[in-house]
Amino acid sequence: MNAAEALAALADCLGPRGLITDPADIAPYAEDWRRLYRGRPPAVLRPRSTAELAAAVRICAEAGLGIVPQGGNTSMVGGATPSARGDEVVLTLSRLNRVRAIDPVDLTLTIEAGATVKAAQDAAAEAGCQLPLSIASEGSATIGGVLSTNAGGNMTLRFGNARDLVLGLEVVLADGQVWEGLRRLRKDNTGYCLRQIFLGAEGTLGIITAAVLKLVPAPRERLVAFASLPSPEAALALLTRCQRHDPSALLAFEYMGGDGMDLVLRHIPDTQLPIAAAGHYVLAEFASPRRAAGLAEGVEEMLAQAMAAGEVLDATLAASEAQARAMWRLREEHAEAQKRAGASIKNDVSVPVSLVPRFLREAPAACAALMPGIRVVAFGHLGDGNIHFNLRPPEGMADEDFLAQDHAVMDTVLGVVRRLGGSFSAEHGVGQLKTYLMPEWRGGVELDLMRALKTAFDPRGLLNPGKVLP
Ligand code: MLT
Ligand code: ZN
Repeated sequence: MNAAEALAALADCLGPRGLITDPADIAPYAEDWRRLYRGRPPAVLRPRSTAELAAAVRICAEAGLGIVPQGGNTSMVGGATPSARGDEVVLTLSRLNRVRAIDPVDLTLTIEAGATVKAAQDAAAEAGCQLPLSIASEGSATIGGVLSTNAGGNMTLRFGNARDLVLGLEVVLADGQVWEGLRRLRKDNTGYCLRQIFLGAEGTLGIITAAVLKLVPAPRERLVAFASLPSPEAALALLTRCQRHDPSALLAFEYMGGDGMDLVLRHIPDTQLPIAAAGHYVLAEFASPRRAAGLAEGVEEMLAQAMAAGEVLDATLAASEAQARAMWRLREEHAEAQKRAGASIKNDVSVPVSLVPRFLREAPAACAALMPGIRVVAFGHLGDGNIHFNLRPPEGMADEDFLAQDHAVMDTVLGVVRRLGGSFSAEHGVGQLKTYLMPEWRGGVELDLMRALKTAFDPRGLLNPGKVLP
């Protein structure tokens, strides 16, 4: 079957609403959020059921067409953008977005991969539960996307990453078979844990079409605190203090450097600081399953002690839901603000939590030695050791000249990360941007095992070609 025959067969199989071939309609799927990559897909597939997708995959396999699954298209590493060769179709599961079941006793949500994270959160909330996954792009990111990339986000310190929230999966395999693994058991020791192989595989081993997710009871009371601090060391000290105060209360602990905050205030409308400007900020969220459990009083007292100890310069608690949302916006708009400010080289790194302050001292110094005047935008999930260490060009340097040095800049940052025993990708994955790092960081037996898995699951290399493995 050649490509033209395959497109005709796909049109038959998926129906008029299930296949996009008009170049103008394809365009938004062909480029990544950061506009680093542009592909040339001949079509976008929009199946509306698992069976339809399985049939479409069989057609693609027969024709040797690559398939690039794309969720909300919010990848930071080009993980969902097809090649420019014209031999890979994009797959969107936006029509496969139903809640299949929700059980507040079992605390499980069975949901299709095309649903947005926000829709999944809302479904959980309606049942009096919480889906304990929250990321800045949750309004557009999809369940299939966050599971395929094992997203982290704001509550990892308490609930783990996306892979820790999954009990079961339904997956379409490279040959069009369907693995029906939608079990909702809390205990199930029956051989290899197949679902974990697909989670974080970035769509290179199979296409996740539905999942059973773990929920938690919705907290009765939530509290957001916003603080300014003198240093990253003080931020770490505050984290330790929060955890000792009440380990079950801390939900999120986010760090923001002053330079990134300035970009948010400059580029994002209707943003303002709730306290005086400083060089370092923390947003912390606490939750309690009980009302009137003294959550606010306890946190206030703890912050007063932190101020007395010199860890905190100033702090305030959100007095309403609107204030809490405004504080979270200051954190979550960092990526958008930076995009509006121009070119950036992103490093999504992790180090042991205790070494974050050292990283935040050594990495800027190393970058300045490489490129005097380079501007640092550092923020992220301090509570789990994941820092977004993003860089902007020195004043006056053209964006293209800066981006041309991306590997030199990334290698400089990663030199520090390696010294501190960290990872080159904490939560954004490998995509196509970071495949060149795999041999150095995961080479030898680890990469051999990954290649063996790829060969076993997708021997012809048709699922998300060119991603993850070099
Ligand atoms: C975030 O936490 O806001 C993101 O992962 C975005 C980024 O790295 O820019
Ligand atoms: Zn992040």
